[in-house]
Amino acid sequence: MDKKELDWAQLGFEYIKTDYRFSAKHINGKWEDGSLVESEIISVHEGAPALHYAQQCFEGMKAQTGPDGNALLFRPDLNSIRINEAASRILMPEVPREMFFSAIEEVVRANQAWIPPYGSGASLYIRPMLFGVGKNLGVRPAEAYEFRVFVSPVGPYFQSSGLAVISLAVSDTDRASPHGTGSYKIGANYAGGLLATREAKALGADEALYLDAAEQRYIDEAGSANIIVSMTGNRFVTPASNAILPSITRRSLTTLAEDCLKLNVENRPIDLRGEFDEFEEVAACGTAAVLSPVGRIYFDGQWHNFYGEGKEVGPVMQELYDQLVGIQKGDKEDPYGWIHQVQI
Ligand SMILES: Cc1ncc(COP(=O)(O)O)c(C=O)c1O
Repeated sequence: MDKKELDWAQLGFEYIKTDYRFSAKHINGKWEDGSLVESEIISVHEGAPALHYAQQCFEGMKAQTGPDGNALLFRPDLNSIRINEAASRILMPEVPREMFFSAIEEVVRANQAWIPPYGSGASLYIRPMLFGVGKNLGVRPAEAYEFRVFVSPVGPYFQSSGLAVISLAVSDTDRASPHGTGSYKIGANYAGGLLATREAKALGADEALYLDAAEQRYIDEAGSANIIVSMTGNRFVTPASNAILPSITRRSLTTLAEDCLKLNVENRPIDLRGEFDEFEEVAACGTAAVLSPVGRIYFDGQWHNFYGEGKEVGPVMQELYDQLVGIQKGDKEDPYGWIHQVQI
């Protein structure tokens, strides 16, 4: 099938309407089969709990075209587990693993003309979502649910090409509380962060950086990505926190840091001010952000720079990026079995 005529190299991270999406309803306590649909418009009751009480969760994944033309998904089993952890937390029915996988594969295949070609630098973003529909008024779980998967071709999240060096500004607001919902991918965590991102951008940063809500001291995560730090003494440190999303990209980079770069991996609270002098390289990581080195961080009223003027990429983050992206694009061997191939 011919590809759409898009300028793949110029794509940003914006919604582009593709031809098909998957939709399945959960009614009277069971999932219906579901099917591909063409309309991107969802019609829901004005009393839907997703609209009032944010009874909604979602996932974010990417498909890349491999060298042989097939679509490559990265660790979709972990997205399937994570959406069900979120669903259970906010009292929604789980999405059976088979339905999750078949929905994604069907939508990717049906929209194959929209999957950016091998070597284009772009990918097909996949957005599974689960939300409470049907009429309701009081604060209680919905009686019916919809599971939907749509896709959109995307370029880099932060900049238009290559390995983007970004800047972060520490937010005065909290994203999530220690015993709250921060570790689940639910919409409720993101609405509160819109203001923080706007304030960070007003300071000239790309994204907000959150510290822990209890003490405003330890690094939690960025608005749309986890944080990884390479520190003096060959250490690779990631923030331990109950309030952050367990990023699949971060978990994968940790494995690569240990196996390929032979770094000493630590997962523990990171005291931003107390340990800053030991930071050698910092990056934000996630499905959308991939691995974005951080050039500078704003906190306590001033910018704190890495890598001189904050323009270069350090060797640890460059190597981790090359390893990760090499596996994701099918250019490097995948010794971990992370790639799930969809035959096109
Ligand atoms: C708040 C937040 N943290 C971290 C991540 C990264 O998670 P993952 O690597 O699983 O995409 C995301 C999504 O990309 C996110 O929205």
